[in-house]
Amino acid sequence: MTALNGSNALIIGGSSGIGLAIAAGFRQAGARVAIAGRRQDKVEAAVQQLNAAIGVDAPPVSGFTADVTDLEAIKRLGRSFAERLGPLDSLVTCQGTTMLQPAGEFSEGDYDHLMDTNLKSVFFACTHLAAPMLERGRGTVITIASLAAHRGWPNAAVYAMTKHGVLGLTRTLAVEWAPLGVRINSISPGVFLTELNRKRMSSERTARLRDRTPLGRFGETSELVGAAVFLASDASSYVTGADLVVDGGYLASGI
Ligand SMILES: NC(=O)c1ccc[n+]([C@@H]2O[C@H](COP(=O)([O-])OP(=O)(O)OC[C@H]3O[C@@H](n4cnc5c(N)ncnc54)[C@H](OP(=O)(O)O)[C@@H]3O)[C@@H](O)[C@H]2O)c1
Repeated sequence: MTALNGSNALIIGGSSGIGLAIAAGFRQAGARVAIAGRRQDKVEAAVQQLNAAIGVDAPPVSGFTADVTDLEAIKRLGRSFAERLGPLDSLVTCQGTTMLQPAGEFSEGDYDHLMDTNLKSVFFACTHLAAPMLERGRGTVITIASLAAHRGWPNAAVYAMTKHGVLGLTRTLAVEWAPLGVRINSISPGVFLTELNRKRMSSERTARLRDRTPLGRFGETSELVGAAVFLASDASSYVTGADLVVDGGYLASGI
């Protein structure tokens, strides 16, 4: 039930971190995968890495360079994907960035950058790239939220706003699209060390986060793959509008 054989998947933000792991996992599950990212050199390196995986019975990965804060770039991405791979079955919006500072220090530029990258791009990627799915009456979308959509985190005011927005958008689209045959769910990852956060983790912050995590460690990006494959596959055919938390027990913990 969790096979993605013969389906076409696009992972935006698939050139590193969580998106790269999901792209590898989707390919392993049999999907024809394309990744999109902002920087061309990273996209090319990721495509090479994904295609070098041995023992995978799936077509080669395609790479697209696109700054998805730009609606025209999203439209171009949709057209290029359709030309090269055909109809899109599964979309994952894994693009994102963060910035940690006291709320009063965010400039208008910082605010716009976070909102555009984490929220505007997700909204328009969902609405434009899923439009053909709605016409065909089938498809799945996965957005990436965060623990910051569930709890208050100091110095992350704008990031938290964007991730609360991702949850709100996901639930709203789930209700709007359910009668049209398209499911959309989010994943809220706990802490996974990637380009996004590796340099922002002081030893004190690292220790506090680990101590609060019942499983006693941070996640490996490969540990998010099962959740993503589940949500993209028929195994989750009755799941829409859900947020799947993959956090080593962090949110469940009372301490
Ligand atoms: N890591 C964690 O612990 C964690 C926890 C909770 C939620 N998340 C969320 O998970 C998602 C992935 O994060 P990550 O940790 O995997 O970080 P990452 O390694 O930095 O990956 C971010 C990806 O998004 C792409 N991207 C950023 N801005 C873009 C734009 N304007 N247009 C197209 N692509 C863009 C990046 O490409 P470039 O590098 O070329 O910009 C990269 O491929 C984010 O939404 C993040 O908020 C992460």
